Amino acid sequence: MIKHIHRFRTMMLTLLLVTGAASAQQDTADRSGGSPLDDLLRTNHASALNEQDKTSWLLFAYVTAPADGRGRQRSLFETWASDHDTFNRHPQWPGEPSGMHPHAAVLQAEEARRMDAAPGAHPLVSAQSLEEVRRNRSTFDFIVNNGLYTQEGLAAAFAAGKPIVFPLDSIEVKGDWIPADSPGVDATRYHITVGTDGKRYALASMHITTKLIPNWTWATFEHEDNAGRCDYIGCHDSFGATLPQVAPFSALGQRYPACLKSPALRAVFAKAGLDQAWQHYCLKGSQMDFTDSTGQPILLGNTIPEKGMVNTASCMTCHSRAAFGKDGLKTSEDGSLDPAPVASCPTGTPCSPNGAPNPDWFWLHNVPVAMQTDFVWAIPYCAVPTGQEVGPCG
Ligand code: HEC
Repeated sequence: MIKHIHRFRTMMLTLLLVTGAASAQQDTADRSGGSPLDDLLRTNHASALNEQDKTSWLLFAYVTAPADGRGRQRSLFETWASDHDTFNRHPQWPGEPSGMHPHAAVLQAEEARRMDAAPGAHPLVSAQSLEEVRRNRSTFDFIVNNGLYTQEGLAAAFAAGKPIVFPLDSIEVKGDWIPADSPGVDATRYHITVGTDGKRYALASMHITTKLIPNWTWATFEHEDNAGRCDYIGCHDSFGATLPQVAPFSALGQRYPACLKSPALRAVFAKAGLDQAWQHYCLKGSQMDFTDSTGQPILLGNTIPEKGMVNTASCMTCHSRAAFGKDGLKTSEDGSLDPAPVASCPTGTPCSPNGAPNPDWFWLHNVPVAMQTDFVWAIPYCAVPTGQEVGPCG
């Protein structure tokens, strides 16, 4: 525990360093001792809840900052462990930062079945969009040290019955990438990486989750050029955008105006030394709870990874379903409601659950039938099956 607190402090300190410029700027506005930013970092969980979009951007600056001081070459999150590094019989923290090792977009396999020409479908997204998850050292160590990377390990964890709770400094990032030479893509406006296939990919969408609060913080970013970027649910950014609320257009799949950056966010970017390309990414929204204070579900979904279900998506609710049974197998395919209950899925096709989780997903007559993996979907999704060397995400 002490080790975790220490790591957590280190992460917070790094965030403070990364964002010192914003802090200095706000100091002038608030000279009553300690800047609002300092407070955010000291009382992180309260601030994560009260200043959600600011928290999301500080995390963005932290994970995208150059890892090796070579400008846009490689960001910190790209040096972390991928599913490929984690979910095999011999998980290994990457010594040398590895090339992007993507797998086919997960929810898209479902979607292909679900609705090919879905309303709101991203024109750039086809079979070509690829996904990659990266996790920091604490998250990786927790999975490995608790044997949560194989289905036998999961069965043992179920038998032991000890709840899975990740350390406070856990961070996971999921990126969706498109070929940098796709038609209509101006690669100079994107963060670029090279895949293990030697091809260049452009980052089109990014999710960041952290354990700053018990049910994790949830943030999603879209490239400014993503068509339909604010469809259905709008875009909401009270810290980094000069226009904090963008209402959805009624015509789907249009381009939205540029997300111009506030002075406070520009200062954060400058201090973190972010490459110019990152200016073209927009915070679509932050989610820190299942419902608002009136009990209405809070929705958040990204045009690319949640394509076809943005109108029902809730990061937190779908991720609460990341769970496995006593056999170590996942208890739902990918968290979506399938078959689609008429009341919840407006298009009549499988959709995301939203609002408060349903106890029936986890209990049968007060007996546990599904053990949650603390919102981490990769565990039940990617765990190595018995008798195999590599999991389905490896
Ligand atoms: C309908 C279900 C669903 C919704 C909605 C959803 N996800 Fe996921 N998510 C998944 C599944 C399944 C995976 C595991 C497969 C993979 O590696 O992508 C995943 C993986 C992830 C990962 C990698 C870490 C992990 O859990 O394994 C992150 C980070 C993530 N999602 C963030 C988000 C954010 C942020 C949102 C909301 C904007 C969101 N997700 C919405 C189902 C969902």
